[in-house]
Amino acid sequence: MENSSIRYIFFVMFSIFFTIVSISSAASSHGEVEDEHEFNYKKNDEKGPERWGKLKSEWEMCGKGDIQSPIDLMNERVNTVSHLGRLNRDYRPSNATLKNRGHDIMLKFEDGAGSIKMNGFQYELQQLHWHSPSEHTINGRRFALELHMVHEGKKGRMAVVTVLYKIGRADTFIRSLEKELEAITNMEEAEKNVGMIDPKQIKIGSRKYYRYIGSLTTPPCTQNVTWSVVRKVRTVTRKQVRLLRVAVHDGANSNARPVQPINKRVVHLYRPMV
Ligand SMILES: *[C@@H]1O[C@H](CO)[C@@H](O)[C@H](O)[C@H]1NC(C)=O
Ligand SMILES: *[C@@H]1O[C@H](CO)[C@@H](O)[C@H](O)[C@H]1NC(C)=O
Repeated sequence: MENSSIRYIFFVMFSIFFTIVSISSAASSHGEVEDEHEFNYKKNDEKGPERWGKLKSEWEMCGKGDIQSPIDLMNERVNTVSHLGRLNRDYRPSNATLKNRGHDIMLKFEDGAGSIKMNGFQYELQQLHWHSPSEHTINGRRFALELHMVHEGKKGRMAVVTVLYKIGRADTFIRSLEKELEAITNMEEAEKNVGMIDPKQIKIGSRKYYRYIGSLTTPPCTQNVTWSVVRKVRTVTRKQVRLLRVAVHDGANSNARPVQPINKRVVHLYRPMV
């Protein structure tokens, strides 16, 4: 073989090798992560909120359910009542783990973190997580952040207690987790044990809350979830909102499902009798 053709063969082999190396490294830094996401929050995307119900048969409620969440809590539509009773939170410290679920950051309570009583039922606190911007809106206004405290009762009954936040002073509960959030942002692993966390440290600051029956706001969008959205909007810093979002590593800047039709539902606003 001539010298020049040997050189040519080497050149071709080298180019092929180099192409394979660069394709596989690109796949592990972007492609794979993207493909792992089963759903996303992009408008008009094949995996976006308008199509969640079509992605899997178990997710059909996301598309055809008629009591879906979140909703807009419009003041002129709410029915003010005093019979629902205060949110009776009976929480206690529990060993907890921060988990990156690919679309949000969840704080999972590993052993009993206590419970809340409503409608005569007891619901155990399982986990909490954040959405930004908020999913529920009040009179069409969206806020910077929304906390979901997810509770489960007997027979799979679900109850979510929600706090909305606008930009302002720091939230002390998130502040207590900032170091751990920074740590999972910089880590390859998706979870980190954070020791004993006391859910009583989550400030609510109001007895008033909106109550309605809706669904989970992520697939499978299971219905018949009792929602209690605290009336008072609390505050969080821009940096805290960013910290919660960046830790997810999903390259998205939002994880809020658009508001869903109210249909025939009634929204109550609980106000204690004076
Ligand atoms: C919490 O759980 C983790 C792992 O399950 C364990 O290693 C740790 O010791 C526990 N911490 C406390 C305070 O119980
Ligand atoms: C919906 O939830 C309420 C109370 O949480 C329960 O009494 C009722 O049986 C549930 N309905 C369905 C269809 O699951």
